[in-house]
Amino acid sequence: MALQTEIARYFANENSQSSLRDAFSRRSAVMPFRGRQRVPDDEIQSRWSLLLTQDALPKKRLVYVHVPFCANHCLFCGFYRNAYVPDAGASYVDLIIGEIEKEASAAAVRERPVHAVYIGGGTPTALRADELFRLLCAIKTRLPLAADCEITVEGRIIHFDPEKIDACLEAGANRFSIGVQSFDTDVRRRQGRRSSRQEAITFLENLGGRDRAAVVIDLIYGLPGQTLDIWQQDLETATALGADGIDLYGLNVIPGTPLFTALAAGKFSDASELRQLGDFYLAGDRLMQRKNWRRLSNNHWGRTTRERNLYNLLIKEGADCLAYGAGAGGTLGAYSYGLTGELERYGEQVRAGGKPIAMLTVSDSLQQARDAVTAGFEVGRLDLRSLDAITGQEISLIFSPLLGQWQKAGLLTVADGIVELTVAGRFWYGNLISAFQSILNDRLHPSQDAA
Ligand SMILES: C[S@@+](CC[C@H](N)C(=O)[O-])C[C@H]1O[C@@H](n2cnc3c(N)ncnc32)[C@H](O)[C@@H]1O
Ligand code: SF4
Repeated sequence: MALQTEIARYFANENSQSSLRDAFSRRSAVMPFRGRQRVPDDEIQSRWSLLLTQDALPKKRLVYVHVPFCANHCLFCGFYRNAYVPDAGASYVDLIIGEIEKEASAAAVRERPVHAVYIGGGTPTALRADELFRLLCAIKTRLPLAADCEITVEGRIIHFDPEKIDACLEAGANRFSIGVQSFDTDVRRRQGRRSSRQEAITFLENLGGRDRAAVVIDLIYGLPGQTLDIWQQDLETATALGADGIDLYGLNVIPGTPLFTALAAGKFSDASELRQLGDFYLAGDRLMQRKNWRRLSNNHWGRTTRERNLYNLLIKEGADCLAYGAGAGGTLGAYSYGLTGELERYGEQVRAGGKPIAMLTVSDSLQQARDAVTAGFEVGRLDLRSLDAITGQEISLIFSPLLGQWQKAGLLTVADGIVELTVAGRFWYGNLISAFQSILNDRLHPSQDAA
């Protein structure tokens, strides 16, 4: 296909009244497995053992621990895996600690400092206080955490009682990422979030009032019943609570979720359309600017110097990430891996002394360029010269016609080799990343299909 035609596939709609509303017909997600080849299943264990003996590359290093339990399945969520049953927590934590201990002395693990730890889910705060304490202590004592390591525990309001908060703080957590989604009681309850607006506010006031760790609030815009007015109130409430950071996520209606099924069945007649999400994003961006919050990425703002958002920024830059727990995913050098999400299988494999890897892939020579594109667009600023330096080619020339078209469509500006996204470009950044990555692949690896 001629280059011009090929690139024209990624052009934005130039004729719309509002690029925030109509630049593209759908929002694209970034494909994490682009350019990766699968390692055959019967070679995974031997390849992993060998990897552990090798010195780590001089890259930033992260740890991700997955806790796949939830009190209930919130309608919008694609992360739900297992209902939380109190007795399951202790043995699950034992398994993760076993997994960590097994590889703690390996060269690939012990020789580089860990800059950020993320205990995510599911709902880590569903675990009991003693379980959270044991898990965090094992991470702190067994893994080479940097002295200024960011240690995040993800959670939700319900069941996250003061005893659990104290346990996390005592064991070294210094950041809590709390999923609030919306403060509006009706909007919340329609998505399966049982606590009320007032309960959410009281919880966050108490958590922030301790002043011992960064508090980050996750909000979603575009939920059924959440009008622009309700969204403005959500933003006002969240920013008034003294949080250190705020995430603003556009609702993604994920196939297979209860929300997807409900929408298909015609429930929630007041659900937002994709075109309206841009208006919500604009309202969020304006309010955060007006309140003087620093934009740390397209979806994340920080208020205090305590908030660094390290884990999320470094993962986008392609940092190494050691993964533990059923369903966790990680990266070590050129290899990426996903641990089995089936709890029983996970337990069997850890008890048998193996690494419970379900999929191992190896990336190609373009990975560094892909990471630079993702990391740049993620923060709304891409240095084209860095791409040329990484690829050893004047790769930025390939993108000139596309960047020119996107500029006309109001998505970005380009000056001195630096691409700066507009607010519309930041809303559609997933589409921009996907287009760049497809073109990189087609131009530099024309014969290679993505794994
Ligand atoms: C891995 S989830 C865990 C959240 C936590 N367990 C809770 O219940 O709040 C992390 C964040 O992803 C966001 N999220 C989850 N599903 C989403 C969706 N369908 N669209 C947009 N954001 C979503 C939510 O803001 C959520 O807080
Ligand atoms: S939003 Fe949180 S608690 Fe609800 S299903 Fe998703 S991961 Fe579980």
